[in-house]
Amino acid sequence: MGIFHKLATSLVKTLPPEAAHKTALRALALGLGPKYACDHDILKTELAGLSLPNPIGLAAGFDKDAQVPDAMLAAGFGFVEAGSVTPLPQAGNPKPRLFRLTQDKAVINRMGFNNKGLDVFAKNLRARQGSPGIVGANLGANKNSTDRAADYLTGLAALWGLADYFTINVSSPNTPGLRDLQGGDALEDLLGRISEARQNLTGDQASPPIFLKVAPDLDFAQIERITEQARTYGISGIIISNTTTARPEHLKSDHKTETGGLSGAPLMRPSTRILAEFYAASGGHIPLIGVGGIANGGDAYIKIRAGASAVQLYSALVYAGPGLAAEICDDLAARLQADGFAHVSQAVGSLTSGQT
Ligand SMILES: Cc1cc2nc3c(=O)[nH]c(=O)nc-3n(C[C@H](O)[C@H](O)[C@H](O)COP(=O)(O)O)c2cc1C
Repeated sequence: MGIFHKLATSLVKTLPPEAAHKTALRALALGLGPKYACDHDILKTELAGLSLPNPIGLAAGFDKDAQVPDAMLAAGFGFVEAGSVTPLPQAGNPKPRLFRLTQDKAVINRMGFNNKGLDVFAKNLRARQGSPGIVGANLGANKNSTDRAADYLTGLAALWGLADYFTINVSSPNTPGLRDLQGGDALEDLLGRISEARQNLTGDQASPPIFLKVAPDLDFAQIERITEQARTYGISGIIISNTTTARPEHLKSDHKTETGGLSGAPLMRPSTRILAEFYAASGGHIPLIGVGGIANGGDAYIKIRAGASAVQLYSALVYAGPGLAAEICDDLAARLQADGFAHVSQAVGSLTSGQT
């Protein structure tokens, strides 16, 4: 990372977290972000039919309204997931709702799907149509919606043809009841309706991939059931994981008792364990995207060896700035080469169980 971006990242960190985020978005929109083409043949990845220059993605929540996807692609990310977007604009929870746990290299948030809604999101995607780079839309449901499943269908219909892939986010802890959609019958109903909507929208064209994003707070029986249902209804991949409602005992920071979802370093182990369990449950038959606590190339490599075909990150950017994508990308390529892999796809799931 250049000295300018290191300095800018340090300055932004002196602001309260939400103001810092807003400032970073503004700077990125003005073209002041880092620029780096992470170009290693060993990292070029096919993910559910998407061609990625590298498997390091930006996780949802950083760019909720799809304001800066191209700036993040230019910084070195191999793909960007914008959102979560809900059908109607939503203010989210009262502030403060975003907390740095600096000593723990972690974040707690209870944003509550603050976003400008589908109209603005669609407008932003329309403005970049034809630009290179994979940009996905992470769909959420409005807090006051009486039929939450219908909100995902509304999102699909509004953004069909504008997003390169979709993510059905049923795992944010900050919309009461949303995670219930991960449960047996509710998930069955939701995935059935999504599969039907997808067929209607697709016609005789190829469908963009549709991923399902899950929580890390799941047991193996739930993991097996979700995997089976995802396969039955043609889900293209599973993103593991969202933030956790758990609070590991080793947390040190003052804000550790705040309500919300915990992300960053303390999520690395639990989310990777769940990822490995999804890999075991799916037998490698459905692509997995590993998210949670990635802060360096070594972390990304662990997720890939645990079964992830691609990875995403967000919280580490709060501490290191957007230049981190390029560092992780180069480091991952070097690690794969050092271990004798000809291509990243060969490393997927290469970690034996027990090593996560
Ligand atoms: C402030 C904040 C907002 C987030 N908002 C969303 C969101 O809107 N939708 C979503 O699917 N995940 C959201 N996430 C979760 C991240 O996408 C990611 O799954 C999680 O933070 C774990 O990755 P990390 O440890 O690299 O941050 C958010 C995370 C943070 C820190």
